[in-house]
Amino acid sequence: MHFIKSLSAATALYALGYALPTESPSLSGRDVPCDPISKYTTNYFLDHHIYTPPATTCLFYTFGLSATAQRFAHGGGSDMTTIWDIWPCELYNGDDNSGNPLRCIFKDNTMRLTYFENMSRAMAMLCKTFATVMTDDPKNIPQPGIWGRIEEPTLKLTGNPGGQVDTIIAVNTKGDDVQDVWVRPGTKRKTMSIRSTSSENENKALFKRQPNECYNPDQLQKWFGDVEW
Ligand SMILES: *[C@@H]1O[C@H](CO)[C@@H](O)[C@H](O)[C@H]1NC(C)=O
Repeated sequence: MHFIKSLSAATALYALGYALPTESPSLSGRDVPCDPISKYTTNYFLDHHIYTPPATTCLFYTFGLSATAQRFAHGGGSDMTTIWDIWPCELYNGDDNSGNPLRCIFKDNTMRLTYFENMSRAMAMLCKTFATVMTDDPKNIPQPGIWGRIEEPTLKLTGNPGGQVDTIIAVNTKGDDVQDVWVRPGTKRKTMSIRSTSSENENKALFKRQPNECYNPDQLQKWFGDVEW
């Protein structure tokens, strides 16, 4: 009796034009193989960025502040650049569905860290003149994360593709405590009032700013908030 009932329900579905699913479909409707981590080198990120941080606008942050820094960067009339502004949406996709080629990398903490280390290094190489790090206590910046190991040392290099950074400051989450972190020996302290409108950024700026178009700060915080920034 029960069998007959469900059989006729199935027949009715067929009649209405529905196919009975044989396996659960992926959210994207298409399965793609997982990308290997070896694809995502710093050079890969340098080659695929679609927005160049205008001089003085780079905003980095330490552990747990992904969403806070992203809101700070785009709120209150400031127009700073975070890691979520520089690459196409698909490179930030943390969805765990079989249509996302990054799903295996993001499921594995070690690969995920490598991915964001290489992306972060590329961002630091694109910064110019002046860079800021957001952290809870600007007088006491945690060093074990991506900021201390990758971003800060990279910003201090010379000959980066984006130009040269001469001043690094730290700011708290409210933006009311600002401390100098580093001034390049032999240079004058730069300030944020230096704004670049140079033509080199115009082409890249034609692309819309990414974060609000891709994933909102809360979504990114949920996916990537526990990366050791
Ligand atoms: C980037 O990530 C790879 C892992 O795929 C790693 O071996 C490499 O050293 C990293 N660094 C750079 C600069 O690409």
